[in-house]
Amino acid sequence: MNWLEKEGIEFLKKVGIRSDFKVLDFGCNEGDYTIPASIITKDKGSVIAIDIDKSSFEVIKSYSNNIGLNNIIYLLNDKNNFDLNIQDYSVDFVMAYDVLHYFELSKRTELYNEFTRVLKSGGIFSVFPKHTKNDSPNNNLANITTNVLIKEIANSGFTLSKKVCGKLNHYGNIEHNCVYNFIN
Ligand SMILES: C[S@@+](CC[C@H](N)C(=O)[O-])C[C@H]1O[C@@H](n2cnc3c(N)ncnc32)[C@H](O)[C@@H]1O
Repeated sequence: MNWLEKEGIEFLKKVGIRSDFKVLDFGCNEGDYTIPASIITKDKGSVIAIDIDKSSFEVIKSYSNNIGLNNIIYLLNDKNNFDLNIQDYSVDFVMAYDVLHYFELSKRTELYNEFTRVLKSGGIFSVFPKHTKNDSPNNNLANITTNVLIKEIANSGFTLSKKVCGKLNHYGNIEHNCVYNFIN
């Protein structure tokens, strides 16, 4: 509650989400970032929440209905699908928070290309690079450092624009960590 309706909002505003943004939350899970983004954009913008797990949408729907949010669009994805059903150049801000470790390099590259396609020119791609070699290594990022991941994203045509550190939510635990914004 404190995270969803206070700290999460403060952090995402600091990261750069504005009230008129169309936000894409890729791998939204139960909405730890979807809900704060939806609150920031509730009057003038929207959030597309994407996951492969339908039950996570029910958790988000229940919470958002309770507090009167109606600007979240849900997109159920297939595990190996990177062709998102979203118009070209239509999104202001893509979040890939604590999700890139699920994908091997070739799939991550497909994802970066898809984010490039859906982002407006000058749009922001924001990454929370959890589970790299230097931060609870796991899965496909276990053997690469955060710096290597940042270079990999830059090699896909993005330009690193800012690093924002503060209190972040990782599976319900609040930890000090950083996200990285890239400009399309
Ligand atoms: C570790 S959770 C992170 C959730 C959220 N972004 C956060 O930081 O709190 C990763 C989420 O990505 C989802 N996911 C995994 N593969 C996916 C895919 N191909 N497309 C969309 N979501 C996916 C998982 O189901 C899970 O809910």
